[in-house]
Amino acid sequence: MKTVLVTGGLGFIGSHTAVELLARGYQVVVADNLANTNASVLDGIAAIAGKKPVWANVDLADPVACRAFLAGMPDLAGIIHFAAYKAVGESVQKPLAYYRNNFGSLVNLLEFTAEHPQCRLIFSSSCTVYGQADTLPIREDAPVKPAESPYGNTKQVGEEILRDGARAHGFRAIALRYFNPIGAHPSAKIGELPLGVPQNLVPFITQSAAGLRGALKVFGNDYPTRDGTCVRDYIHVVDVALAHIYALERLFAGKGSEPVEVFNLGTGTGSTVLEVIKAFERSTGHKLQWEFAERRAGDVIAAYANTEKAAQGLGWRAERSLDQCMADAWRWQQTLPKK
Ligand code: UD1
Repeated sequence: MKTVLVTGGLGFIGSHTAVELLARGYQVVVADNLANTNASVLDGIAAIAGKKPVWANVDLADPVACRAFLAGMPDLAGIIHFAAYKAVGESVQKPLAYYRNNFGSLVNLLEFTAEHPQCRLIFSSSCTVYGQADTLPIREDAPVKPAESPYGNTKQVGEEILRDGARAHGFRAIALRYFNPIGAHPSAKIGELPLGVPQNLVPFITQSAAGLRGALKVFGNDYPTRDGTCVRDYIHVVDVALAHIYALERLFAGKGSEPVEVFNLGTGTGSTVLEVIKAFERSTGHKLQWEFAERRAGDVIAAYANTEKAAQGLGWRAERSLDQCMADAWRWQQTLPKK
């Protein structure tokens, strides 16, 4: 069976993808330096999948370490590259750390695919590349807008690095532009592990409901949307994980229409912040404390995906509902330490 390297495989989306790869019989090697997670995630993956992936604690941004690590896997069939820093605010404070880590690891991996063009690569991109899109739902050919943060810039430029590398060296890759991945595995054995105060909506909601945080602040109530709060396309992390496998298998089948293709990963449905709160209350039976607060700098008004290209090209659609996302996120939260 094919061997697939999952970088950042102990992170939120990476761990769910490792589970789905193992379920389909792939040999999975996880590379993760625990920059934003911990080693216990490996046990969660093993408990669900019934087998433990190989794990290497390696810093892929270190060219010598990365090269030495990959030298042991000359027959690698594919790389799903999740390992990256991802906090928007932190990237503004520490742009150089973001550029060193996110570009360094990508370039090091692409040097391997340049030498081993049979090895296919999936890159984690983001809907942040669209900024506030002029047309909704957002198609993949919508213009890429100037990045609002160094984090966003690592996704835009990362896609360009892929395209330049593929053109020059003949490897093939797919960039997946995620909308808002949330939820957790329905088994509650793996999920999101935010460090400190969560910046993203759903982990804040579940921590607030668990009594670990105060009331949720809803950022802005005067946006031009149906209830004044921002609209996003929230997608279950298991749906996101599955899309990576479909994308990789598209490349294995030689079906890519160009060296680097991009696909949106969203549900196609936008939800306001207030609708997310209602979905949480409905699916868990817990009342959430919340209040309106000032708008958050950098937030776009509305973003949700046109999902047709992914449906056609990957044969994939998101299947899990917002209520299921919230129920799974809550079940996971209840397994976490109570302080
Ligand atoms: C954010 C990032 C995005 C990144 C994504 C995944 C920004 C501006 N964008 O997306 O680049 O790809 O995370 O990590 O940070 N909200 C509240 N109260 C909160 C938290 C959030 O009202 O305490 C609202 C936000 O205003 C937004 C929605 O909830 O309308 C979703 O926020 P969030 O989960 O942070 O995701 P994005 O901002 O869409």
